Amino acid sequence: MTSDNGPRSAVVRAFNERFGGPPALVARAPGRVNLIGEHTDYNDGFVLPMAIDRAVWIALRPRSDSRVVLLSLDFDEEHGFDLAHLASSGTQWIDYVQAVAWVLQKRNRDLPGWEGVAAGDVPIGAGLSSSAALELAAARAFAALGGMPWEAREMALAAQRAENEWIGVQCGIMDQMISASGEAGHALLIDCRSLETRSVPVPTEAAVVILDTSTRRGLVDSAYNDRRAHCETAAEVLGVRALRDVDLATFEARADELEPLIRRRARHVITENERTLKAAAALERGDAEEMGRLMNASHASLRDDFEVSRRELDVMVEVAQAHSACHGARMTGAGFGGCAVALVRRAAAADFARVVADAYTQQTGLTPRIYVCSATAGASVETAAASAEPAAV
Ligand code: GLA
Repeated sequence: MTSDNGPRSAVVRAFNERFGGPPALVARAPGRVNLIGEHTDYNDGFVLPMAIDRAVWIALRPRSDSRVVLLSLDFDEEHGFDLAHLASSGTQWIDYVQAVAWVLQKRNRDLPGWEGVAAGDVPIGAGLSSSAALELAAARAFAALGGMPWEAREMALAAQRAENEWIGVQCGIMDQMISASGEAGHALLIDCRSLETRSVPVPTEAAVVILDTSTRRGLVDSAYNDRRAHCETAAEVLGVRALRDVDLATFEARADELEPLIRRRARHVITENERTLKAAAALERGDAEEMGRLMNASHASLRDDFEVSRRELDVMVEVAQAHSACHGARMTGAGFGGCAVALVRRAAAADFARVVADAYTQQTGLTPRIYVCSATAGASVETAAASAEPAAV
């Protein structure tokens, strides 16, 4: 159904080998790249991500008992748990599946057991939401077998709760929402307060290019939580429920009430919300130039006001912006490492990737990974026979 035949075929083949018969279903959920609207989701603000053509796949079939058994091809490990006795195993990948089961069980006590094989091609730890992809693929699996209707928004909230309360990561709603409800060819403007979405076409003459710096974020949880706390302080001082409720004019009039660090954090969020709404409008007009300018401004704000960039991300963004085919570029995701994203004239995307990779390596000594990606649909499930896979021999 997508160009992602690699992991899909692999999980079906491996399922036959491991479980001695074909799977009943294949669930899939994509990773994401955020075009603009960074660190705004937990401020009840706006984000503009798209689901990418890289995903987590799970081939599975129901069991007659209450166990879930899952072989991960990426980790080369098999883990299991009993739905009647959920217990955190620490920070293993299987915990994301248990966490989702834990939340869904609160609504449907009779979640069935299943056995499956998982694999994916969302780079892990790169800021492309491989965890949300695993959560939503697991949610689709449980929902399909448990006869639960697929309500993307509800499932995204369930997965976010799983991550907040079971895994202990205080993420916002963006990653789970886009993995649950992405739309092919489109980015999604998400109002993170109402969870209303508007799909916005990605101009066909522009390519979205992910630039992985090959750096990974360390100690991110504390830095992420610090940023959340700064934003809450700013909202409290300004007397609003969340920074979403402050417009630029009000902020400028009252900026003196905030101490300098809190003022910078708030300025990022407030200006980023405005940029995100303008970006959605620009994409709707097919105005890639304006979209690019907004992305560049977003990066500067994340670097200088929110202070979540790092040297390698700045270098990547600078070398990308210097290419004549680049409309704009910025760091994407939580920051401190991982990926940048660029909007590039499609006809020149291959040259862009080559030139940027060379320049980045020259300045940092690191080898980047570069993906030209397209916007795909959110989490899906299909019968395994939908694309008949040869049985393993
Ligand atoms: C991480 C979180 C998201 C969001 C981004 C920053 O990806 O999981 O909820 O806060 O960081 O925009």
